[in-house]
Amino acid sequence: MTCAIDVDHVFFKYDEFKMEDINFQLHVGEQKALAGLNGSGKTTLFKLLLGLLEPDSGDIYIFDKKLTKDTLWEIRQDVGFLFQNPDDQLFAPTVWEDVAFGPRNLGLSKEEVEDRVEWALDRVDMSKFVNRPVNQMSHGQAKRVALAGIIAMRPSILILDEPFSGLDFKMVTNMIDIIGRLRQEGASILFTTHNSFFIETLSDSVAVIKEGRIVYDGPTKEAMRSRTVFENIGDWGQLRKQIMSTRSSLLE
Ligand SMILES: Nc1ncnc2c1ncn2[C@@H]1O[C@H](COP(=O)(O)OP(=O)(O)O)[C@@H](O)[C@H]1O
Ligand SMILES: [Mg+2]
Repeated sequence: MTCAIDVDHVFFKYDEFKMEDINFQLHVGEQKALAGLNGSGKTTLFKLLLGLLEPDSGDIYIFDKKLTKDTLWEIRQDVGFLFQNPDDQLFAPTVWEDVAFGPRNLGLSKEEVEDRVEWALDRVDMSKFVNRPVNQMSHGQAKRVALAGIIAMRPSILILDEPFSGLDFKMVTNMIDIIGRLRQEGASILFTTHNSFFIETLSDSVAVIKEGRIVYDGPTKEAMRSRTVFENIGDWGQLRKQIMSTRSSLLE
């Protein structure tokens, strides 16, 4: 079966951190969470998928095409990446210019570029900011503009590094809505998170990464009953219960 993403026995090493024997798949049309605590290796894996880092051994396939220096450019036309920090990916002078950059690079006509920018900014609810310099936005706004730049390319795979981090409730709701619509339109989506709420509500399956190793990979429904999962990402529900019971005993 063709996978949107197939990571096959990937090893990678920084000086003091190792990713060991990473294997997982994102199926076509699937929404998958890559979950793990801070420092577990999520962003490193994201950079490997983006071709910013190269595995020491093992292979990454995107729609059956092996990721190499030669295929990278072609593969990137079909994969949209949202960086954890939007400042790492916004660089044009204005919002309009930034969102137009990708479609222009695809060689589309002026009209098609304009249509796509308008559509993408509307989708992320940022149309009003079209002439704003990219360095004059809040974190949440910058994140949505970065996402607009990605969806304007109409990629069939989206890889989102911590798409909800630093967003307030309203923006989280908006981001969930945007991702939900992209999925309905057929995109395959991999997102990283350290929060069980987003795993439970948004993913079909979840791979859990701990210290550079995948320690769980399975359907979300089963994962939410798995001790391995909660031991490795933390159990906020349990923490809440604990704090509430300590507080009520102090008040007695
Ligand atoms: N450029 C780098 N050089 C050396 N070590 C790094 C580099 N980037 C990240 N690391 C280390 O790799 C580990 C995994 O980091 P990262 O993938 O960013 O984790 P996560 O995204 O899950 O929080 C951490 O121990 C981090 O300190
Ligand atoms: Mg990270």
